Amino acid sequence: MNKDTLTITDNRTGRSYEISIQNDTIRALDLRQIKVNEDDFGMMSYDPAYTNTASCSSRITLVDGEKGILRYRGYPIEQLAEKSSFLEVAYLNIYGELPDSQQLSFWVERIMHHTFIHENLAKLMQSFRYDAHPMGMLIGTIAAMSTLHPDAKDIYDDQARQKQIWRLLGKLPTVAAFAYRRRIGRPYNYPDSSLGYTENLLYMMDYMNQGDYQVNPVLAKALDVLFILHAEHEQNCSTAVMRGIGSSHADPYSAMSGAAAALYGPLHGGANEAVLRMLNEIATVDNIPGYVEKVKAGKFRLMGFGHRVYKNYDPRARIIKKVADDVLAITGGNPLLDIALKLEEIALEDEYFVSRKLYPNVDFYSGIIYQAMGFPVDMFPVLFALGRAPGWLAQWLELIDDKEQRIARPRQVFLGSEQRDYLPMEQRG
Ligand code: ACO
Repeated sequence: MNKDTLTITDNRTGRSYEISIQNDTIRALDLRQIKVNEDDFGMMSYDPAYTNTASCSSRITLVDGEKGILRYRGYPIEQLAEKSSFLEVAYLNIYGELPDSQQLSFWVERIMHHTFIHENLAKLMQSFRYDAHPMGMLIGTIAAMSTLHPDAKDIYDDQARQKQIWRLLGKLPTVAAFAYRRRIGRPYNYPDSSLGYTENLLYMMDYMNQGDYQVNPVLAKALDVLFILHAEHEQNCSTAVMRGIGSSHADPYSAMSGAAAALYGPLHGGANEAVLRMLNEIATVDNIPGYVEKVKAGKFRLMGFGHRVYKNYDPRARIIKKVADDVLAITGGNPLLDIALKLEEIALEDEYFVSRKLYPNVDFYSGIIYQAMGFPVDMFPVLFALGRAPGWLAQWLELIDDKEQRIARPRQVFLGSEQRDYLPMEQRG
């Protein structure tokens, strides 16, 4: 018998099936041959929330949740965070290899050249209500971009694809900064392409015509590292949405708008915002034990704790603690950091969290850093989206070129009513 197979016996019929194994997986469609009789649709696997279903093969990111490993294209996240830059990591994730110096300068020049947004888009952003959440503005504005770049529909034209990638990476910081300036009622600052990627973002957000204005290089670097840590994370909720929308051959703006919407939720990219709100609610170190008891009683979750994949530690959380030190050395201490450190200490010793393998994730500290840098809380998920954008694009490109992929269309187990006849109103109970 071929050893790379799985033998399944259907006890309903007594029949056995030999199913081939490749890369430690079986093809779900191979289960279809398992039938009770000829009219039977065939066996399916049931996997709500895709906890054990691979929806694609990918060569971009390896996450080993048990060992706490994260690698982009084979390079450990620790090395990239220390030695690389966000735009270089974006190139690596999208094209598969580190760029040489010529490739890198062309890539950076192209992206920074596309930082200006269409005036219609700037006006559209102006039309949001004064208190609009910047994440809602980002989602809506990315979707609107597709109306301004109809060539984005040519998803099989390599040049058109390249252009949308430069445009998206170039324009996102501008949209983020405009969303922020709109919220606080200040005029937009137009991009300065001579600055670095994160430096330009901070400039567009903060500049107020000061004669001696300069972005603090340590803060720009810290943001760059945070973006590297968020740049890619294989088949998470928002990436799955990017692929799902992309599978219908929608343009990348529409797909990314959906991905950003998925990121908005408090269980995903909205978690860093939720962490800050939680720390503010706890307010003092003395309140931590009472708060933890409520979490254990199932009243709510400890935000920034737990991860679907990482069950020992999140390698990004370690790097981020060091970034927090660098930033706080400049901005001064943050009382919320003291609460966070104590909360982490208490939770890591508590049987509830230990037995469920709940550890701080990347978002536990990112919010504290963002706050120390002066970002308002509702900008946090926007920053996450900016960091994740190259990952979404890398996955989208991989999907488009994958001959095995078709339009994403999951199955369901139908548990509803059998056929029944329509009841006139007067006969209903
Ligand atoms: N606080 C308290 N208990 C928790 C937490 C938490 N943060 N996370 C999980 N649990 C408990 C669950 O109640 C469950 O307990 P039970 O077995 O007694 O019912 C057990 O741990 C397993 O939880 P699941 O929901 O099955 O874990 P899942 O892998 O589906 O969820 C998730 C992962 C969504 C990240 C979850 O841990 C969570 O909600 N965390 C808080 C939100 C957060 O920080 N999200 C950011 C994720 S990282 C990112 O998106 C970049």
